[in-house]
Amino acid sequence: MLRNKAVTLLGAGTQGARLAFMWSKLGRRVHLVDPNEKQLDSAYTRIETFRRGSDPSPHKWGEIRLLDSKELEKAASSSWMVVECVPEKLELKRKVVQGLNDVAPQETIIASNSSSYTITEIINGLELRNGSRFLSLHSYWPPETAAIEVMGTADTSPDVIALVMEQCKLHGFQPFHVQRTSTGYIYNRIWAAIKREALLTVAEGVASPAELDAIFKEVLKTPKGPCEQMDIVGLDVVLDIEEHYAAEREGLPQLPREFLKKMIAEGNLGVKSGSGFYSYDGK
Ligand SMILES: NC(=O)c1ccc[n+]([C@@H]2O[C@H](COP(=O)([O-])OP(=O)(O)OC[C@H]3O[C@@H](n4cnc5c(N)ncnc54)[C@H](O)[C@@H]3O)[C@@H](O)[C@H]2O)c1
Repeated sequence: MLRNKAVTLLGAGTQGARLAFMWSKLGRRVHLVDPNEKQLDSAYTRIETFRRGSDPSPHKWGEIRLLDSKELEKAASSSWMVVECVPEKLELKRKVVQGLNDVAPQETIIASNSSSYTITEIINGLELRNGSRFLSLHSYWPPETAAIEVMGTADTSPDVIALVMEQCKLHGFQPFHVQRTSTGYIYNRIWAAIKREALLTVAEGVASPAELDAIFKEVLKTPKGPCEQMDIVGLDVVLDIEEHYAAEREGLPQLPREFLKKMIAEGNLGVKSGSGFYSYDGK
């Protein structure tokens, strides 16, 4: 059924490029759709770099077609799955998913790569033609991260979940099925708890960021500590994510958010602003 069908990716940014690389591994076509031509060109350059670094390299890479949004209907009509990777704005995601529902064939699976909005939130109140084909398909960065999380809604068909899990495995992902609707999926929930507690530990003056990172790395034998990681992501992004959890769940401590707000107000956003928990000297 899938042999001649493509995967369409909507949004040729950080994730779109990486997913195009993964989904073209078995020689199948990928449609990469973006209204911004520069983004498409830059994505193609990154895909070529990923391919050059791929070990082992597959026998034959699938063709990548770079398409403007006007060609979405054509792209979706020959695809077994469409994944939206547009920016993390709920209203945009809802609009895009409604559009995909309208133009994609009824059996085409429609997935969202959103990090913080569940597919249940995204499709809530939309007029859908076939509600059993929607799911979240959440991948990670950097590109070598094989983990990918698959999460349906109460209406998603188990066959759709099984097919996506199987195809993910075949294409080099390590899929995990999120059994119930969950803000933050599996890994990000664990990571959110680590960040929250790390922020509390520093805010209460129990340890400096450097001490906290050092003990974390020593015990877990991992290259980066929570404060280093938060600096890389950006403290404004860390705050947005934590605000989203706090809006969903009562009883989360406020101090981590207050601490982040103070750092942000002082211009300490992490690597991108030159300082966060650490100083980056413009590097
Ligand atoms: N960056 C990450 O490491 C990461 C990890 C996991 C999940 N995600 C999720 O993936 C999604 C995309 O993130 P990203 O970092 O790749 O974003 P990005 O900003 O790098 O890229 C988004 C792309 O979408 C395009 N776009 C905007 N509107 C569009 C439309 N209507 N149709 C088609 N394309 C459109 C933009 O031109 C841009 O190229 C987000 O939901 C994010 O939460 C990101």
